[in-house]
Amino acid sequence: MDIARPYVAADRQACLALFDSNAPRFFDPSERAGFEQFLDEMRWPYQVIERDGRVVACGGHAVEPDGRTVSLCWGMVEQALHGQGLGRMLTEARLAAARAEPGAVEVRLDTGRHTTGFYERFGFVIERVVEDGYAPGSDRHDMRLGL
Ligand SMILES: CC(C)(COP(=O)(O)OP(=O)(O)OC[C@H]1O[C@@H](n2cnc3c(N)ncnc32)[C@H](O)[C@@H]1OP(=O)(O)O)[C@@H](O)C(=O)NCCC(=O)NCCS
Repeated sequence: MDIARPYVAADRQACLALFDSNAPRFFDPSERAGFEQFLDEMRWPYQVIERDGRVVACGGHAVEPDGRTVSLCWGMVEQALHGQGLGRMLTEARLAAARAEPGAVEVRLDTGRHTTGFYERFGFVIERVVEDGYAPGSDRHDMRLGL
């Protein structure tokens, strides 16, 4: 059974293992230190999905200072489990959390070229492509969705 629940500090290693499973195809290894720092600071709502008691996906969101924009951050599914509906479950849980933020009118995210098609299914549109935005050869795609 798949269950979404809030991140706790004991999930740190499991989340880093999810990152590692998705590198280098989806994440550049140089991004790992930023993810570790994000997990250690944990300033925003962050969720994990457990399958049979094991963490298999994680992702969160932040409310920008304007109070109107919610940014999705560090969303991922264990690579061996892609294509089984976990990404959809995770994204729907995060969009529900975004809609629950008072004053939120839009959701933003940035992602690599392999993932834009996934987010387009939820209505996100690409606003900007930053060449080498993550690392040389790894373009950043900025996407937005009106709530
Ligand atoms: C993007 C990601 C979360 C998708 O997770 P997933 O569990 O494979 O997705 P799902 O199985 O829930 O797929 C949902 C739907 O999207 C489709 N889909 C999945 N990945 C897709 C992609 N890269 N492009 C287009 N469509 C995609 C599926 O076919 C499915 O379609 P359906 O509803 O018609 O059956 C996963 O690929 C991932 O973790 N990638 C690495 C991390 C990453 O790049 N994160 C992005 C931002 S930080």
